[in-house]
Amino acid sequence: MSILVTGGAGFIGCNFVLDWLAQADELVVNLDNLTYAGNLENLASLQDGSKHLFVHGDIGNGELVAGLLAEHRPRAVVNFAAESHVDRSIHGPAAFVETNIVGTFKLLESVRAYWGSLPPEEKSDFRFLHVSTDEVYGSLAADAPAFTEEHRYEPNSPYSASKAASDHLVRAYHHTYGLPVLTTNCSNNYGPYHFPEKLIPLMIVNALSGKPLPVYGDGQQIRDWLYVKDHCSAIRRVLDAGKIGEVYNVGGWNEKPNLDIVHTVCALLDELRPRADGASYAQQISYVTDRPGHDRRYAIDASKLARELGWKPAETFDSGIRKTILWYLDNAEWVEHVQSGSYRDWLAQNYAGRAA
Ligand code: NAD
Ligand code: DAU
Repeated sequence: MSILVTGGAGFIGCNFVLDWLAQADELVVNLDNLTYAGNLENLASLQDGSKHLFVHGDIGNGELVAGLLAEHRPRAVVNFAAESHVDRSIHGPAAFVETNIVGTFKLLESVRAYWGSLPPEEKSDFRFLHVSTDEVYGSLAADAPAFTEEHRYEPNSPYSASKAASDHLVRAYHHTYGLPVLTTNCSNNYGPYHFPEKLIPLMIVNALSGKPLPVYGDGQQIRDWLYVKDHCSAIRRVLDAGKIGEVYNVGGWNEKPNLDIVHTVCALLDELRPRADGASYAQQISYVTDRPGHDRRYAIDASKLARELGWKPAETFDSGIRKTILWYLDNAEWVEHVQSGSYRDWLAQNYAGRAA
């Protein structure tokens, strides 16, 4: 028995692989082309002899994927591979179209051919789980109810538009070809191995190195936050028991304005690693020009997943954010290694033009 995971060297994918191998005695074939966001150090804690096979390659490489499917005969494919950062999609949307749309299409084609060749029992047991985002639903007014699975798609950034396109392809492969797909649409994750281009890890890393904490616009944009391991447990649950062709929203019932998040990070760092001068890290907060097209509010209604599959998050925001900060404090070497030349180039590109 095996599963094929794509993008398993990135933030959520690596947490999924680590949690999977801690709980299941089943080979994980991990296909990742190691973009700037993919990092094999994320998987360094795996013991020699663990049931993990890393393959360096692209989900769009049909020959490679067909070979992996034929050789390992996975009972499921879990697709994390994507370009995932909204700001990067604004600076360079082409990579998002290439990986998130064309790459998902090519992966679906490879999987469809493999699935079609399986004997009846393996064919009916097979699943393709596509990991998607709440951003496909667009932006909510302050008093609007949270996104349900029925909310219409209104993606606003090149990133969310490319994820929406991939969701539609996945849906179409079920509707047209009968491919047994499942889709999850999750809110903002945070936790270990989060690349410090995203809000929470960027704030931790910048705070500790004495740099400004760049808050876009007025900092009152709202996101729902979920500890990454709770997202992983939701994916495992949907893979186990989700109904073929269905979509499941995943979220933490944890809406917070960005500025509250930044203040929480500062307060925890004040407690756990106080600044030498005794001042609060909050002094480093700096308001900068907003993200173009910035979605004001996301909120996810995850009650279908709770009701039908009995999933609920294990962490509260308070427990998850404390674990996260402790992880970053304990893993200074990981942080140092990811701050490579290309990371510094990205910071210069994204923040240089934003007047304080
Ligand atoms: P990430 O950017 O940290 O990791 C993406 C991984 O995919 C990297 O390891 C990268 O090397 C790999 N990859 C990229 N292009 C590839 C390709 N063409 N072939 C093979 N591998 C490729 O992203 P993440 O935050 O871990 O997100 C994983 C998935 O979850 C994405 O699909 C994202 O849209 C979705 N998602 C993320 C969040 C979040 O808060 N981070 C929330 C909901 C959904
Ligand atoms: O909602 C799920 C999505 O969450 C995922 O699909 C994406 O892959 C993931 O990157 C994340 O998207 P966001 O754009 O919400 O995440 P990000 O961490 O980039 O930003 C979170 C909020 O913080 C957003 O409102 C923008 C703001 N922000 C971000 C950065 C990097 C700042 O104010 N300052 C910053 O420097």
